[in-house]
Amino acid sequence: MVWPLPQRPKRQPAPEHLTPAASPAAAPKLNLTVRLRRNRKSDWTRRLVRENTLTVDDLIWPVFLCEGDAREPVASMPGVERLSIGQAVRAAAEAAKLGIPALALFPFTALGLRNEQASEALNPNNLVCRACRAIKREVPNLGLVTDAALDPYTSHGHDGLLRGERILNDETVFVLVEQALNQARAGADIIAPSDMMDGRVGAIRAGLDAENFEDVQILSYAAKYASAFYGPFRDAVGTNATLIGDKRTYQMDPANSNEALREVAQDIAEGADIVMVKPGLPYLDIIFRVKERFGVPTFAYQVSGEYAMIMAAANNGWIDGDKAMLESLVAFKRAGADAILTYFAPRAAKKLKEMA
Ligand code: PBG
Repeated sequence: MVWPLPQRPKRQPAPEHLTPAASPAAAPKLNLTVRLRRNRKSDWTRRLVRENTLTVDDLIWPVFLCEGDAREPVASMPGVERLSIGQAVRAAAEAAKLGIPALALFPFTALGLRNEQASEALNPNNLVCRACRAIKREVPNLGLVTDAALDPYTSHGHDGLLRGERILNDETVFVLVEQALNQARAGADIIAPSDMMDGRVGAIRAGLDAENFEDVQILSYAAKYASAFYGPFRDAVGTNATLIGDKRTYQMDPANSNEALREVAQDIAEGADIVMVKPGLPYLDIIFRVKERFGVPTFAYQVSGEYAMIMAAANNGWIDGDKAMLESLVAFKRAGADAILTYFAPRAAKKLKEMA
């Protein structure tokens, strides 16, 4: 539709929708019953009609862990560092103080500890387990999410066990169950399988229940796409260096959307408490469809590459970083997400506090 522009009634006969001008000098006026701009005229009315709100309750902060004492900057994620266990405990205390409900932990496993079987994933004293215990001791009321997937532990960087060129499904699921139990014993509140093997949610649920962990939640990375936007994360956990090939035989094809609904339906049937769509902004349509169809708690992951893009543009002075951050986060709420995993979590929490 081409919207009629106001025209000078003097030069042409006035179209019907134009109010006759009081005098030839008067400004032209459209006779509009509906003016959507009325509700936007001031801050107070914009607040009254606002449909979606971002609050600190919507944020989960993904944190990278490393051995030793040094904070290690992640070059492709300005402002993000790998933290030692001691620093992670302080970060957890800061998160709790800001009101952030939960942290998600990701380890940089020493390269010498990675092998074909991912055996370090099952070590009760691995980095993630030690961090869980330390954080739970100091900040017991903060939620802890741990990732069930083998990529930070395998010598080849895949989320599952590799035989020849194949990622083994069922064999991997047995290891994931053990990994999940290892994390639950260390105090993890939510197990988040991000591996995309078939049947892992049901197997992990059964494994947890058999050990009386029936209160441990499962946040399933249900619709996880094979994405280029994971690049900076793979720097952070050291899998860009180890990964052989790509993950397209288990992560989803970015061209698909009905398939995401099948993945989500399957994970709900297997006992997922919360489902997730990942990456975030390029997949808002998937979040929307999942929420519309199933109405279950639905999280989004604003992944490392999305963070890196906003930060890079902001650091170049090309966009306003804080505004772009908040706009991107409320977009997830608009699409139907209940919570967002985002590296911006502490920054967004501070900004929201400032604006309150
Ligand atoms: C690994 C995992 C990945 C992310 C979370 N868990 C990367 C991958 O699948 O290669 C990506 C998160 C991000 O990019 O921020 N199972």
